[in-house]
Amino acid sequence: MPTGKARTKSTPTTRTASTESAAPKLPSWNGSLLKSKAWKALGTRAKVAKASDLRTLFAKDKKRGATFTAEALGIRLDYSKNVFDSATLKLLFTLAKERKVTAKRDAMFRGEKINMMEDRAVLHVALRAPKGSVIKVDGVDVVPAVHEVLGRMEGFAKKIRARKWLGFTGKPIKNIVNIGIGGSDLGPVMAFEALKSFSDRGLTMRFVSNVDGNDFFEATQDLNAEETLFVVSSKTFTTLETMTNARTAREWSLKTLKDPKSVARHFVAVSTNAEKVAEFGIDTANMFGFWDWVGGRYSMDSAIGLSTMIAVGPKHFAELLAGFHEMDEHFRTTPAEHNLPMLLALVGIWNRNFRQHATVAVLPYCHYLHRFSAYLQQLEMESNGKQTQLDGSPVAWDTCPAIWGEPGTNGQHAFYQMIHQGTSPVPCDFILFEKPVHDLGAHQDMLASNVLAQTEALAFGKTRGEVLAEGVPAWLAPHKTFPGNRPTNLLLCTALSPRMLGKLIALYEHKVFVQGAIWNVNSFDQWGVELGKVLANRIIPEVSSSAAPKLAHDSSTNAAIGHYRKARGRAN
Ligand code: F6P
Repeated sequence: MPTGKARTKSTPTTRTASTESAAPKLPSWNGSLLKSKAWKALGTRAKVAKASDLRTLFAKDKKRGATFTAEALGIRLDYSKNVFDSATLKLLFTLAKERKVTAKRDAMFRGEKINMMEDRAVLHVALRAPKGSVIKVDGVDVVPAVHEVLGRMEGFAKKIRARKWLGFTGKPIKNIVNIGIGGSDLGPVMAFEALKSFSDRGLTMRFVSNVDGNDFFEATQDLNAEETLFVVSSKTFTTLETMTNARTAREWSLKTLKDPKSVARHFVAVSTNAEKVAEFGIDTANMFGFWDWVGGRYSMDSAIGLSTMIAVGPKHFAELLAGFHEMDEHFRTTPAEHNLPMLLALVGIWNRNFRQHATVAVLPYCHYLHRFSAYLQQLEMESNGKQTQLDGSPVAWDTCPAIWGEPGTNGQHAFYQMIHQGTSPVPCDFILFEKPVHDLGAHQDMLASNVLAQTEALAFGKTRGEVLAEGVPAWLAPHKTFPGNRPTNLLLCTALSPRMLGKLIALYEHKVFVQGAIWNVNSFDQWGVELGKVLANRIIPEVSSSAAPKLAHDSSTNAAIGHYRKARGRAN
């Protein structure tokens, strides 16, 4: 069990950790993966797969492309260019059954407290449940509360968009600065960037996350405080970076507006922690709430999406939620063979655990999605970057790969060299839209051709024979040879819209869920980020005090603190 200290960020409903408190009762899906028959059989298939390659697999089965393609909700997932065959896929489905993925999924949708380490339900799916649906936590239907908050967000967003929310000096607000970090930033930034073409271009949207003051400075240096609203977004309202930036924002705002009463017109909060919001000085009438059953990295469709709603308007926000919900329903009701999140997850398990690929690149061929990979980094790595099973024992298998990526075609001129010819294959998810948001000349066809060329080149490479046949001299041939056999998925989606964005995000959310269920980790806590925070709090006075501190760290940390203090003109 985690220590009491590590719980400083938790809201009050969190299980109190102490050495005496009883361990949570483990559900039936807990159990060692190593005992799974399918897992063992997959290990045997992996040896077979070592000797096979995509050239042969495609040559042997002319229908492979169609066999390993699934289509739903305007998303066509072609996973045929992964090094596996039908027998392997069958075993992956059996693995999902043995790991009781659907039972766990249903428990999540029922509002059971599957985040056992924090004694919480996991109900981001309730955030997009249509009015009238019933989802209960501790016997209480949470859907009406979700819609009550959505209604308040809508009223507020409409006022801002109509320029009817006036600042303290009577000028309409037209600059919105979201202050938050992690799940309270990455989702809002990613969604704003993705949906920019649906946004009100008369509003200036800015996002401040880093405790590095340069971030705040750059986000505000050209703004007029009289026309600027800060949305302080923090689930806990205790996060060091966010609270530091929020205090700086208040000072910045008051420098122009002078009167503390102006805070009510220029600050709103999005949080689960009303007490801390009030303590900060924001009127709780200007607070948009959410609940402990929404994880930070699953919160962009809660009130954390307030800046998104302001930017794109309540109708587009509703479309976004509808897209999420469509994917939820698809995940909940579709058999594994056609279930997009399930397929993406299982192929990922194959690549991670049986092909030992340590990273995954997500490569959207759509510039509007240029923050999508960064968003997925938190979603996947904070959820499944774990080494402890539900029962507290260590995992004996690899869990989350490192997620990274940049939009295409930019990445092609940066890191694709390594993906094509490096020593460690990187499974890639390529994302392409059939229709561009802006159809400019030949751009979209070029973009599409590039994606298709990349997946082809990665899968089939270029042999030495082919290179020599082109007249390349023998000494140069090895350099121009491409090994191929590099796994890729191609997600071909109809068009980028708020609804499609919702579907894509939910697709990855549920992929993460399935993988966490198979790896038997809790995908909904994040104790791993706590230690660094605790140590930082200890070091803050040591670097900033005017008197020389007594340092009791290791020799490297002590020396670095001393060096920094000297550079800042402080006594050592
Ligand atoms: O540092 C980890 C984390 O707790 C994330 O899970 C979360 O999204 C982020 O910090 C921000 O937390 P909060 O919304 O409470 O400020």
